[in-house]
Order: sequence, then structure tokens, then C-alpha cells
Amino acid sequence: MKNILVTGGTGFIGSHTCFSLLSEGYNVYAIDSLVNSSKKSLLYIEEIFRSRDIDISNKLRFFEGDIRKKDFINYIFKTALKEKKPIDGVIHFAGLKAVAESVIKPLNYWENNVFGSYNLIKSMKENNCKTIVFSSSATVYRFSSDNLLSEDNQLKPINPYGSTKLAVENLLNDITQDANGNWKIAILRYFNPIGAHESGLIGENPLNKPNNIFPIIINSAYTKEKLKVFGNDWPTKDGTCIRDYVHVMDLADGHIKALDFLLRNKTQLIKLNIGTGIGHSVLDLIKTFENANNVSVPFEFDERREGDVCQLVADNSKAKSILNWSPAKSLKEMCIDGWKWKNTNPKGYM
Ligand code: NAD
Ligand code: WQD
Repeated sequence: MKNILVTGGTGFIGSHTCFSLLSEGYNVYAIDSLVNSSKKSLLYIEEIFRSRDIDISNKLRFFEGDIRKKDFINYIFKTALKEKKPIDGVIHFAGLKAVAESVIKPLNYWENNVFGSYNLIKSMKENNCKTIVFSSSATVYRFSSDNLLSEDNQLKPINPYGSTKLAVENLLNDITQDANGNWKIAILRYFNPIGAHESGLIGENPLNKPNNIFPIIINSAYTKEKLKVFGNDWPTKDGTCIRDYVHVMDLADGHIKALDFLLRNKTQLIKLNIGTGIGHSVLDLIKTFENANNVSVPFEFDERREGDVCQLVADNSKAKSILNWSPAKSLKEMCIDGWKWKNTNPKGYM
């Protein structure tokens, strides 16, 4: 069975993907600096498997450390080799992701996201591991609200976070120019991942005040503090912005399919949108959350948020055809699972 290094493995998307990798029989070497997560997520993953009478004790290893330190990454490759489980591929989630913070601390973002990725890629090369799935974002696109965004849409990020994602994409593009490189690379551009594992045991656990709408909706449903809806004068059916929300377990499945595709195929680089292709407004999301969970989500309208765009929806046809991936979960299921996570762990992984 294949051995996979998962950077950012204790984070929101990383932990759900570790779960899916283990479910598919992969051995997982998870690494994380814990700057925005808790290693308890992995304990809960073990608990889910235990509740299903599945023993994963030798299949999931965790190493705390920072991808800005190449020696640390090399150590993981060497350890895996010593354990006779050489790393076959990497899924690279580790990075900082708060758009507003990236404007205030751009160097921090370049150091973590770009220098960290550079170290990882260099270490991969040194250890002869050339298969990588990279977490990119719809934020790399030059936004145009008219159509579904396809992968050949123009690229033009508008904040340092987006610039760092594009810089890593460029780095990955460049290394494929080396004919002897033999790299197999999948760049996945996620739209808006939300939800949680259906058990409610793992979910999104932001250590700082959340900026994304879904954890804010969950908090508002829980505390009854009013959330602010940014703008009700957008040219949409109800005046609020449209986004493409995708269930985190569907996203995790996209990673497994991308990894599997790379491992089975020849050297190449693929860039794929991961979204449902369906747009929902902020009010759709709030109403669906209320109806699905029978709770109220108090809100008020506020000014538009700077940097927001009216509509962002994925053309996901490439991921569907190349990976045979298809999102299976509805907006309602995303809301049910997210609320279950909150009620199972009201204080997150505390
Ligand atoms: P997250 O913060 O929950 O996970 C990222 C993980 O990386 C965290 O556990 C953090 O502790 C770790 N990390 C950060 N810097 C590190 C470093 N230098 N060394 C080691 N570990 C480090 O975020 P997430 O939502 O799970 O996002 C995962 C990836 O997907 C990120 O790269 C993010 O940019 C990307 N992404 C996320 C979204 C989203 O909306 N959640 C959308 C598009 C892309
Ligand atoms: C969604 C909608 C807001 C908060 C961001 C990043 C992007 C990607 C995903 C990482 C928008 C509205 C929000 C609130 C609101 N992340 N909103 N009140 O902006 O689509 O994308 O996360 O790669 O890079 O930019 O997601 O969840 O912040 O906002 O009304 O308190 O919710 O205006 O329409 P966004 P979001």
C-alpha cells in the first residue's frame, strides 16, 4: 500500500483528507507546525476508526514541525524509508490562509507559503519523490462575475495570500520544464470548502476569529450573536454574493482521486477546479442552515466587504472528466454536518 506525506495534516482540509486516505488503505505521515490547528484532530480520526472496529494504529504517524525547515522534512522522508514505507506522494496543505492577515503580514505569507513550499519541493527532489497534490485556491483567478470560472480563466490575485498561491503554482509549473524531472503534479483550486465529517468528531477549528462565512454562521447559530451579511445590493437574485460551497469530504475525495490519477499515469501537471459548479447566495446558505438544523441564525445587512466579488462559481468539468470526481453532498448536508461538529465539540479541539 502507498505511503503519503500530508503537510498541514491536522488542519481543516488536511485532517479530513487524512481520514479519507486511511479509509482507502493508504499509510499517512502527517506533519504540521500546529500554528492553526490541534493534533487532537488525529486522535478523533483514530476514534472514528475505533468506533468502526478498524485498527489504524500503525497507519497514521504524526510529526510536529515546520515546512520552513528542510532538515525536518528530510527527516520525515528518511524515517519513512527506515520504516520500509518510502513516501510515494505528497499532499501539500500546509500554509497560512487568512486573506486580511496576509495584507498586514505579507512577508509571513511569502515565508510560510512560498519558502515553505520551496523547501518541501527541494526535499522531495532530494528524496526522489516526485508526486505532489497542491492546495491552491480560486483566489488565483482574475474575477469575472459573468460565467463559471474555468481553469484557463486569466490569473490575477488581488491580495498577498492569493499571490503566494500563484507563486507556488508557478514554481510547480517551472519544475516540470526539467525534462529529467519526472514530476507528477496536481494543482487543485478549491472554491469554498465547508462542512465537516458526518460523525461530527472532526471539523473546522480556527484558532483565531474566523473570517469565512460558514464558521461565522455556526457561531451565530450557537451564540445568537448577529452576523453581518456584507452587502445586499449586489446584482444577484437576493442582493447577496454567490459562492460555490463544496463539502470538505467531497474535497478530500478529490485529493484521493487526484493522487491516484498521478500515481497511475505518466509525468504531467494538471490544474483543476474543485467546486460543485452550483452557486448559492449568502442568504441561501443562511436559510438552508436554519431549515436543515431547525435553528435561527440572526443576521443584519452591512456594507460590502472590500475585495469581495459578486459571484464565484467553478466550472468543474475538467475535474469531473479527468479524475472521474463528482461532488456528492448537498448544501443541506454541509449545513447538517457543520452543525453536528459544533454540537459535538462546542469548544473545538479544546
Ligand atoms: P488550516 O489552517 O486548517 O490548515 C493549514 C495547516 O497548515 C494548519 O494545520 C497549520 O497549522 C499548518 N501550517 C501552516 N503553516 C505551516 C508551516 N510553515 N509548517 C507546517 N505546518 C504549517 O487551513 P485549511 O482550510 O485546511 O487549508 C488547507 C490548505 O488549503 C491551505 O494551503 C489553504 O491555503 C488552502 N485553501 C483553503 C481554502 C479554505 O477556504 N479553507 C480554500 C482554498 C485553498
Ligand atoms: C463568502 C461570502 C462574503 C463573512 C475566501 C478567500 C478564498 C478562499 C475561500 C482560501 C462572501 C460573505 C463573509 C461575513 C458575509 N480561501 N460574508 N459575512 O471571500 O469567497 O473566499 O475563502 O483560499 O481565498 O478569499 O469566502 O467565506 O470569506 O465569504 O456576508 O462575516 O460570505 O461577502 O460573499 P470568500 P468567505
